[in-house]
Amino acid sequence: MPLVTTKGMFARAYEGGYAVGAFNVNNMEVIQGVLDAVAEKNAPCILQISKGARDYAGMIYLRKIIEAGLEEHPDLELAVHLDHGPTFELAKQCIDDPIFTSVMIDGSHLPLEENIALTKKVVDYAHAHGKVVEAELGRLGGIEEHVKVSEREAFLTDPDEAEYFVEKTGVDSLAVAIGTSHGAYKFKGEPVLAMDLVKELTRRLKGLPLVMHGASSVPQELVEKCNKYGGKLPNARGVPEEMIQEAVKYGICKVNIDTDIRLAITATLREFFHEHPEVFDYRKYLKPAREAVKQMVMHKIDVLGCGGKAVVD
Ligand code: G3H
Ligand code: 13P
Ligand code: ZN
Repeated sequence: MPLVTTKGMFARAYEGGYAVGAFNVNNMEVIQGVLDAVAEKNAPCILQISKGARDYAGMIYLRKIIEAGLEEHPDLELAVHLDHGPTFELAKQCIDDPIFTSVMIDGSHLPLEENIALTKKVVDYAHAHGKVVEAELGRLGGIEEHVKVSEREAFLTDPDEAEYFVEKTGVDSLAVAIGTSHGAYKFKGEPVLAMDLVKELTRRLKGLPLVMHGASSVPQELVEKCNKYGGKLPNARGVPEEMIQEAVKYGICKVNIDTDIRLAITATLREFFHEHPEVFDYRKYLKPAREAVKQMVMHKIDVLGCGGKAVVD
């Protein structure tokens, strides 16, 4: 099946009360692990490529590996998405690239009107080429980091602005700031998300798919394994799975995961090197690392409820 945009998978997720996993990929083993998992679970899937991934692997390699994955698994419902596109030029380059069906333009650091102008420019170009666009409004960051309510509200997505932004840009999905942040250190104290804000945004934006960035759960057994075998990840903490499920129930349709895959690989490799110091055949340790990615993604699919939901023409 050819690559698809996220339109159909989001519409069904929204109606069905589940979410689609969007997984960041940077190399062959991770792409294989993700695609093996979604094929086995018959789940719709979004592969995300950041600017950093493009710089690391090169787009020619990433494109060819994904094409190989589609040949290996012909029955996937798969979208390929630019994650955190920083400029119109990079978004355009990806829209012009047949492997991408979706792009994110991240103007969240800009003043509102500038974010609108940039997003609208990308939306117009993408829609003219049959592709879809995710934008971001608000600044990601743990709620408890900004103690004063006024400061907290300055960072979270504002529902009035969101309504205005969506109307002005015609964007296809919106990444919202609800208290999550990227990486392995999401909360200093107890995890807290602005669930009422998710409900309010869903009510106001009527049918627009909402996206949760920074949605890794940072499983403590992986953090402990990393630390046991020489790692240094003190107080790493993520979004509890029940909170993700609650947010999905209230309207989150796309859940972005990168950190948990990085942790799964790192914990596997650290343990392997500790237990097999004599091994230097990289296939011996990249194979279990790839399997750890697969297991992680299968688990995410269970948490998000998207298993068995792939629709393949
Ligand atoms: O949101 C950021 C993603 O985790 C991608 O990270 O820019 O290091 O590739 P990266
Ligand atoms: P995590 O760092 O929580 O995995 O978030 C990834 C992300 O939002 C990619 O856009
Ligand atoms: Zn992100």
